[in-house]
This record gives sequence, C-alpha cells and structure tokens, in this order.
Amino acid sequence: MGRLLSSEPQNEDESFVSIRPLTLNEYIGQKNVKSRLDVAIRAAKMRGEVLDHVLLAGPPGLGKTTLATIIDHETGGRLHTTSGPVIERQGDLAAVLTSLSTGDILFIDEIHRLPHAVEEVLYSAMEDFKLDILVGKGPGARTVRLSVSPFTLVGATTRSGLLTPPLRNRFGMVLELDFYDVKDLSEIVKRTANILGVEISEKCATEIAKRSRGTPRVANRLLKRIRDFATVKSKNEITLETLEEAFDSMKIDIFGLDEMDRKILSKIAHDYRGGPVGLNSLAATVSLESETVSEVYEPYLLQGGFVARTARGRIITIKGYAAIGESLVSAKNFKYKE
Ligand SMILES: Nc1ncnc2c1ncn2[C@@H]1O[C@H](COP(=O)(O)OP(=O)(O)OP(=O)(O)O)[C@@H](O)[C@H]1O
Ligand SMILES: [Mg+2]
Repeated sequence: MGRLLSSEPQNEDESFVSIRPLTLNEYIGQKNVKSRLDVAIRAAKMRGEVLDHVLLAGPPGLGKTTLATIIDHETGGRLHTTSGPVIERQGDLAAVLTSLSTGDILFIDEIHRLPHAVEEVLYSAMEDFKLDILVGKGPGARTVRLSVSPFTLVGATTRSGLLTPPLRNRFGMVLELDFYDVKDLSEIVKRTANILGVEISEKCATEIAKRSRGTPRVANRLLKRIRDFATVKSKNEITLETLEEAFDSMKIDIFGLDEMDRKILSKIAHDYRGGPVGLNSLAATVSLESETVSEVYEPYLLQGGFVARTARGRIITIKGYAAIGESLVSAKNFKYKE
C-alpha cells in the first residue's frame, strides 16, 4: 500500500467510485469553478451547442476526474476517457476522435504528457473539428483531412504551467482547482460517511478535515481507515475516542503530518539549523530520492506554511517548529483556514 496521506490515487480508491459526486450540486466547495461551469453548461444547452473545451488544473486528489464525470453527466453526452501518455501516435488520437458523436465528452487526463506530434493534430480538431493526418511516408506522403463530430475536450493536468501555450489557448475555459478549506472538507467527510453508512458527529468530521491536507482524496482515505477502527470495536459510529486512537496509531498529528513529514522538519531544524538547505542534501539526510521529497512531501509542507522556499534553499518556519514541538507557540494555537 502507498503512503496513507498521499494525494495520489491508489488501488483502493477504485472502490470509491460510488462516493464520487455525480452532479454539480453534489460537488462540494470550489465555488468559483462550479458557478463558471454551471453557467457555461446551461448556456450551451440553451443555444443547442456543444460545451466549449474545458481545462481542469490542480494538484492530485482535488477532484479533476470527478468534475470530468460531472460535466459528462450534466451535458448528457457519452464519456470517452484516455490519458496523455497512452496516446503515443497521431493515429491513436485519430482513432479516438473519429469515434466521437456530436456532444460527446473526450476526457484526456495528464494532458501535459501528450507527445508533441499528437498535440499538433489536436489543435485543428479542437478549433474546427477537422483532423489533418499525414498518410504514407517519403515523397508519396500526403495529408488527409477528416471531419470530427463537434465534441467537448476536457483536459486535466496537475501542472498547468507544463502545458504549451498553443494548447492552453484552445481551451474556452481554464479552471484552476484550489486546496479545500476545513469547512468544505468536513462536508465531504460527512457526505462520504453517509454513503458508507457510518455515523459521524460534526466535531469528528472537522477533526478529520483538519488533517486532510486540503485534499478530498486524503479526507476520504482517512475516514475509511478510522472507520476500520470503529468496525473492529463493533461500532457503527466514529467517536472522538476512536478517532484519537486511529490517528495515534497512524502517527498523524493535528496538522495532518506523518512521521516522514516530521522527520524532514526535524532535519532542517537540527542538522541545518533551520536552513536554508538544498533539495538534494535534504533528501539525502532523510534517505529519500530528491523527486520524492519535492513531489510527495514538499507540496504540503510548503502550502501548509511549515517550510518556506528561498533562493538559497528550504527553511523551516515558526509553524514548522511548532509541528515538531519546538516552538514557544503551541501547535494547538495555530488557526486553520475555516
Ligand atoms: N468537491 C468534491 N466533493 C466531494 N468529493 C470530492 C470532491 N472532489 C473530489 N472528491 C473525491 O475525492 C476523490 C479524488 O477526486 P478525483 O479522483 O476527482 O481527483 P483528481 O483531481 O482527478 O486527482 P488526480 O490528479 O490524482 O487524477 C474522489 O474519490 C472524489 O469522490
Ligand atoms: Mg484524476
């Protein structure tokens, strides 16, 4: 099993399909994204047109795939799902595009990983619903122009900065998802608990939300683990006692940090006297690959304000010291974005 607090999808998430919201109404938080989508979908329907192409950008686990499913559900087209690295050649993309009917949704996950040659074919398909394909090789090669039924491309990327400008510009709507606040995460926890058939109080839902690193996927995963603790006690309710026992055993603190997060903070605090420290040296001291530190651990440490990045490297913040119990300010006194 992967890291519990990881916001990356893991196998067990498959069983979470039924907890994925199906309509915009059920989708919690992201107010701005929701209202922009709602207007666009309704306007397209009223004009009898297909919805403009949508780009969804944001860190893992914030609900991009969920939104793609919702767009499909709300527009009533058929959903075709694929991902950037899977479409290796122009022909692969042509096969997908020519199989679309009017109003269908083509969801391309990890769209920033589309090979360049494939991406170029996508441009005209997005703009004029035409496909220019090179057939044959050498002097005999010629371009064939095919028509594609009007469709909506929904692209998802964890890093919108990696998208080439020509591709990005062809999306009518670019929606950037943000980390969720505690209130929204607590709504998500209550909704999921309800679907899983386990009782949970407002207070317990908030406690889980606070440790969910701003991420619905983490919130749902923590809830499932805590539910296991309740189940083995033959209880169908999550109490504060079960919750504390579960977090203790998972070694997750009130900030949602786990042992490795705290180890990283301690190393910066002690071995590097608070920093600055470069990524490679830091990774070596905690025996991890640099990429693992920068992609798995660091995003939340930075976003949560435990670590700051300076031109000369990473430094630990006052909040970071509090998280490892080394500050005059008690960890409990840090306010959450409610
Ligand atoms: N706004 C929301 N309301 C309720 N549940 C949500 C919401 N957003 C996400 N979820 C839940 O969180 C989980 C992760 O969401 P999703 O798979 O859509 O993330 P993602 O952004 O596509 O992640 P990745 O970048 O890893 O593909 C899903 O199980 C989904 O049910
Ligand atoms: Mg996804």
